Amino acid sequence: MFEIKVPATSANMGPGLDTLGVAFKLYNRFIVEEIETGFEIFGCDEKFRNSDNLVYKLMLKTFEKLGIVPKGVRLTFKTDLPVMGGLGSSATCILAGITAANMLCGDVLTKQEVLNFACVIEGHPDNVTPALVGGMTASIMNEGVTHYNKIPISGGIKFCALIPKFQLSTEDSRAVLPQTIPFKDGVYNVGMVSMLIAALVNGDYKGIKLACNDKLHQPYRTSLIENYSDITSFVQDSEALGVYLSGAGPTIMVMLKKDDNNTLEKLKKFLKCLSGNWEILNLEIDEEGIQIRGLTPGDIW
Ligand code: HSE
Repeated sequence: MFEIKVPATSANMGPGLDTLGVAFKLYNRFIVEEIETGFEIFGCDEKFRNSDNLVYKLMLKTFEKLGIVPKGVRLTFKTDLPVMGGLGSSATCILAGITAANMLCGDVLTKQEVLNFACVIEGHPDNVTPALVGGMTASIMNEGVTHYNKIPISGGIKFCALIPKFQLSTEDSRAVLPQTIPFKDGVYNVGMVSMLIAALVNGDYKGIKLACNDKLHQPYRTSLIENYSDITSFVQDSEALGVYLSGAGPTIMVMLKKDDNNTLEKLKKFLKCLSGNWEILNLEIDEEGIQIRGLTPGDIW
């Protein structure tokens, strides 16, 4: 019996579509127990308690990849991430499923193999990589292999997630993206993403806000999120360091100077005036990534 704890992640970070991501100390936890036969699932919505469950599906795929006959399993979910919220909930399920099966098979996959497999399933590496290795990462997929580098963000920056009550599926949010873009928009994003990484590493507070702009996804997704333009305009006019759509949305991420409680208070007041029941969550960066610990039946988790 063991627990798999996977951090929330915020992908894209503005111009870094499908490439940049950062892990936070907000977790989905999955308790895995081997049982004689069958499949039992607890701790999640009725609609996820069946063999279509993403964690379970990934366990089966992993057993198949490893050439091992599936074992009986009981899964118990303890989840703190919003589902379809833009904080990497599906990446946590994919990684948990692969890791659960891998552990039950004697931990035969390397971390790199888990990463490659998870990214191929997810289709892009920007949530999976930081969820696996922690911190902020830049990652790319090339011929089935995911390559990544950690990006050491300057310590003076804090992240606040603005989370509405509604959900937005990645599928719907990707459906509005264009098939082609003008050459100048590609060049624009190369500039922005380069500046963003440099500004975050160097603690160049003034450079972050401009560098959160992009022309690949945020402008196309705006119409899917009620209040998006009001919120981002408010933040852009404030003392906040930057604002971007977290992953495929609908969560909006705001970056602030660590000691800037004044802007945070103003933002709270502003959100109260809007529909959508926006909640603010202060998030600290998780530097560790996925964690696995053995449990005995008496353990508290
Ligand atoms: N990079 C992905 C997107 C993140 O923006 O669609 C969501 O899975």
